[in-house]
Amino acid sequence: MAQQWWKESVVYQIYPRSFNDSNGDGIGDIKGITEKLDYLNELGIDVVWLSPVYKSPNDDNGYDISDYRNIMDEFGTMEDWEEMLKGMHQRGIRLVMDLVVNHSSDEHAWFTEARKSKDNPYRDYYIWRDGKEGLPPNNWGSFFGGSAWEYDEESEEYFLHLFSKKQPDLNWENEKLREEVYDLMKFWLDKGADGFRMDVINLISKTPGLPDAEVTSDSAFQWGGDYFVNGPKFMDYMIEMNEEVLSKYDAMTVGEMPMATPEDGKRYTNEESGIVNMLFQFEHMDVTSGPGGKWDQQPWKLTDLKKIISKWQNELHGTGWNSLYMENHDQPRSVSVFGDDQQYRVESAKMLAAWLHFLQGTPYIYQGQELGMTNVYFDSIEDYEDIETLNMYQEEVMEKGTKTEDVLKAIHKKGRDNARTPMQWNDQEHAGFTTGTPWLKVNENYPEVNAQKALSDENSIFYFYKNLIRLRKELPVMIHGDYQLLLEENENLYVYTRSYDGTTLLVAANFSKETCELKLPEILNGGKLLVHNYSGVANQLHNESNMRPYEVKVYLL
Ligand code: NOJ
Repeated sequence: MAQQWWKESVVYQIYPRSFNDSNGDGIGDIKGITEKLDYLNELGIDVVWLSPVYKSPNDDNGYDISDYRNIMDEFGTMEDWEEMLKGMHQRGIRLVMDLVVNHSSDEHAWFTEARKSKDNPYRDYYIWRDGKEGLPPNNWGSFFGGSAWEYDEESEEYFLHLFSKKQPDLNWENEKLREEVYDLMKFWLDKGADGFRMDVINLISKTPGLPDAEVTSDSAFQWGGDYFVNGPKFMDYMIEMNEEVLSKYDAMTVGEMPMATPEDGKRYTNEESGIVNMLFQFEHMDVTSGPGGKWDQQPWKLTDLKKIISKWQNELHGTGWNSLYMENHDQPRSVSVFGDDQQYRVESAKMLAAWLHFLQGTPYIYQGQELGMTNVYFDSIEDYEDIETLNMYQEEVMEKGTKTEDVLKAIHKKGRDNARTPMQWNDQEHAGFTTGTPWLKVNENYPEVNAQKALSDENSIFYFYKNLIRLRKELPVMIHGDYQLLLEENENLYVYTRSYDGTTLLVAANFSKETCELKLPEILNGGKLLVHNYSGVANQLHNESNMRPYEVKVYLL
């Protein structure tokens, strides 16, 4: 397996709106990030993935871009960005930008031109179709509710938007559009960016004819994924992008790919013919979803998580590369979902950290995860800001008459604002995030959960992460080792080994509130204790021991 810097790195994701506000307007900004570079350096991360900072009307907090080459006013200026990048590079931190090119904003100049008339030169940058007898061109639903089509009165055609109607899909069939995308990628790489996280990149190629989706529910709109996930020309476009742009730079790429399977993972990330370095898959995030999908949250089973993770670990070993994540700006806080955000918050946050960082792949830490930040439980919809959440609420409560409290319960579990509450820097007003009024309410646990407190406590979750990041630099087995699952059927304990070059790591993690007996094969004995989240753990591995609630222990054998 080839050595690559991005395999040895740990990535930290910044959601700029919620990270740190330097000018008191209640919105995080780029200068705010620069102010915190020493904090990131202390943690020891290698790469920052920065969610979009480009000009945007913020229908979807920057994932609707109106100018790909300029910085959003609320976030600052291009000079601020350059200063931030310099500060990162001086500290040996690389910067990965967000590339959102499945769609733009409807306020992008391309779209304002395109909607002027059918023969406008930019018309074909987007996907336009005639309606069918007063209905949209097909029955596809949008990810954010309702039809995936919006009627444009002026030109009397519909345009496609897989996300909000302010996020029209770009037409990748158009060579000119593709050239524009490649140019803007070069623009940022030439300015010194070190790579891209590619937003829903496997949705860019749509099946010609845009066929109706199979009707699987009584809703007016259906899941059209068969006709746009890993579409027919997806590979061709990505090969072209590699030839035109990526092959000319030492850039890291991670593709966000809904519905990706390990087969896709191999195809897209292998070293010979892959198109990205690694991808974000969603299977393990969906382990809590019931038959009704994302908002139908159900108790989850550890054995299901084991199956999914093990499949990805084994399939990609030696043939591709995993990205390892349990949180991002679209997901709830991992300690609230997979751990315990009350009594065992610290123990379970550390357990999840160790369990994830010893798997094979590049680990991602989402801002605040290193503090064990938790979900929020706002009791009024007025306190929420996320478009997906608000649309779902509107549809369920206003249109279908679902009980408000049931909908709020679902939002408490899965809403995207759980991850977007301001970063908790200290126990001062607004958690030190802003001197103004924060754009989204701060989690009320900030007096207890904050960076200042973490930095002054050598046993904090922060230093636990710092140690994991440091170990990665010292132990090649963390990067190269193969993966073997033990105790497959156990519903409380997740136990695995990683082996490489005569070294074996044994990782044992208790995902439950119970004290459990850990019984290992006789040969797993001895070695030395490497990582633990409780005191009083044996320095050598014994094949029979107890695991306390959310305990994790890692031995080097
Ligand atoms: C995935 C992003 O992570 C999410 O925040 C966004 O809403 C959609 N893609 C659309 O860009």
